[in-house]
Amino acid sequence: MDTVVLGLQWGDEGKGKLCDELAAAHAAVVRFQGGANAGHTVIRDGVKLALHQLPCGALHPGVRSVIAAGCAVDPAALRAEAEDLGLAPDRLTVSARAQVVPPWFRLIDAAEERLREDGAVGTTGRGIGPTYAAKAGRWGITAGELADPGARAARLAAILPWHHRWLAALGLDAPAWPGADELGEWLRPFVADDLVAIAAARAAGAVLFEGQLGLMRDPDRGLQPAATGASVLPPAALVGPTPRVIGVAKPYVTMVGGGGFPTEITGPDADVLRERGDEYGATTGRPRRCGWLDLPALRYAARAAGATHLAMQMKLDGLAALGRMPVCVAYAGWDEARGYPLPHEMARLRPVYEDWGLPGDPLALARRIAAAVGLPLAYAGTGAARGEAVWEPEARL
Ligand code: IMP
Repeated sequence: MDTVVLGLQWGDEGKGKLCDELAAAHAAVVRFQGGANAGHTVIRDGVKLALHQLPCGALHPGVRSVIAAGCAVDPAALRAEAEDLGLAPDRLTVSARAQVVPPWFRLIDAAEERLREDGAVGTTGRGIGPTYAAKAGRWGITAGELADPGARAARLAAILPWHHRWLAALGLDAPAWPGADELGEWLRPFVADDLVAIAAARAAGAVLFEGQLGLMRDPDRGLQPAATGASVLPPAALVGPTPRVIGVAKPYVTMVGGGGFPTEITGPDADVLRERGDEYGATTGRPRRCGWLDLPALRYAARAAGATHLAMQMKLDGLAALGRMPVCVAYAGWDEARGYPLPHEMARLRPVYEDWGLPGDPLALARRIAAAVGLPLAYAGTGAARGEAVWEPEARL
């Protein structure tokens, strides 16, 4: 059975660690959206690795990595990452239909953030928004086109005048991509039909779909306009029938970038959670905003993601140091049966807290959270390293 792993909070729930635990039992690990904005942290042999575009199958010999059609491929960054891990085309497929991130999209990303002033999204600056905007506007270039010398020149010639106007409107220089030919040639042996790669892997075993970014960054269900550029949910056509969908959460909430965050902590407690939990962005190194566990938000995210199971990464050092665990069980005056508040309403929410006391046994606490969310618990992570986790026996592969 295929497994989908999705983040159910504002990001950085520990999807990378769970996917790393699961990868070896799968024939392929698939990334289905986003690009170099992801920052999956995996600890291998005591060394902290941050994967950006590659799924964590890349760390497991014998497991194929697939970057599927919905992704935004930054070829220069991908090359660096693949070469770092010694990943050859026999281990990595890049969908010919995936969009390519040309280098000037990082400049556009940064310039548009400056334009938003106080409403800045706090993007990772990796050109994700511009890539999906160009795709929707039909001004993008795909990996298949970049990797085909004839198509490359023709497509770039067709789209560059429009990109030129976009850059000029933002006061930026004309688009220039001196490395396009070389990167296209590097990319070529990796480029194929992702559906074929996934079908071949499925014939050999199960397929793992590795979510990146939390549900709250989904452009449809999340904090629009403080969202990422593409849905954080995998397209149904990619996953096999009735996949297991494991939603991942932590016993508190962290967030990088802008947007509504009802349970944000503004005082020194946030510093304790951040320092003890090493809560700094894996891609940008930014300090993460910290808040208390938000059960209404988690119930909403579980529903929006179609989660069938909950996995809890029990990062408890910070909460243990604080000696208490406030949990938001409702928003005052808000009836959850009406649905979840809209992003522009979130600043007005008044969380109602219960103190769940000193966090004790991680498994018991994970089960309590799962019961409050209304999902069966699959897994409780108990430390950062591979294998530091407890699986509920019926959820183990
Ligand atoms: P973008 O995906 O770079 O356009 O950023 C959109 C929003 O998603 C910003 O608020 C980012 O901070 C957030 N975001 C993007 N990637 C990550 C991640 O890996 N972890 C947590 N937040 C992220």
